[in-house]
Amino acid sequence: MRTPFIAGNWKMYKTTAQALEFAGRFAAMDRPAGVNVALAAPFTQLAALKKKLEGSGIKLAAQNMHYEEEGAFTGEISAAMLREIGVDYCIIGHSERRQYFGETDDTVNQKVKKALGAGILPICCVGESLEIREAGEAAEYVSSQVRAALKDVSAGEAAQITIAYEPIWAIGTGRTATPGQAGEMCGLIRETLKELYGTDVSEKTVIQYGGSVKPSNASELMHTEHIDGALVGGASLVPEDFMDIVRF
Ligand code: 13P
Repeated sequence: MRTPFIAGNWKMYKTTAQALEFAGRFAAMDRPAGVNVALAAPFTQLAALKKKLEGSGIKLAAQNMHYEEEGAFTGEISAAMLREIGVDYCIIGHSERRQYFGETDDTVNQKVKKALGAGILPICCVGESLEIREAGEAAEYVSSQVRAALKDVSAGEAAQITIAYEPIWAIGTGRTATPGQAGEMCGLIRETLKELYGTDVSEKTVIQYGGSVKPSNASELMHTEHIDGALVGGASLVPEDFMDIVRF
């Protein structure tokens, strides 16, 4: 059985003071057992959040990392640096990084491998643009993103990866994919994993949906076949809203 996994992606929001205020309130609320919860915060907040969340069971995620071990890469953060803080997960290949910061299928693949090697669990993002969807090519596109992200990744390692299906047209737009659309694409991702690694891995892999998830639509999405979790942007910024989603 796959454990539901709800992760909040704060993107470039909140100062450390605001992050700690959120964490204090959020950790004090009643949370359902059996739901894995993570907060993906900006780099500068991670160390302080790690301390604040100690003993809460809430996991910590980074939003990006570099694929090299170390070196002359001004402004970048390595997997070892994240691991040292005690970061559990790292979002890799978010569409905003692909769109604005030149990430490619190849850099996503390198980052996935580096994260796994460093003991950080990747939350690997895939998803099509509206143009690709309207051209009827979404399935093929997303399946090829998954294959590229997992190139040279062993079955044992693949089983540790979370895949987040985030259609670009649903991110920050208020236009959520219907449960039917989201479930179909998450099912296709599972089918791709099955082709690559067999049923054991494909049935174990947690697949999240992301794109305008909010308290009002979380329950229906989470009760759709093949959707095991949510990657939540805007609605993860307010503790009560995010907790409503965690309680789906
Ligand atoms: P929104 O929930 O704000 O649409 O963002 C989704 C997202 O990009 C999460 O990574």
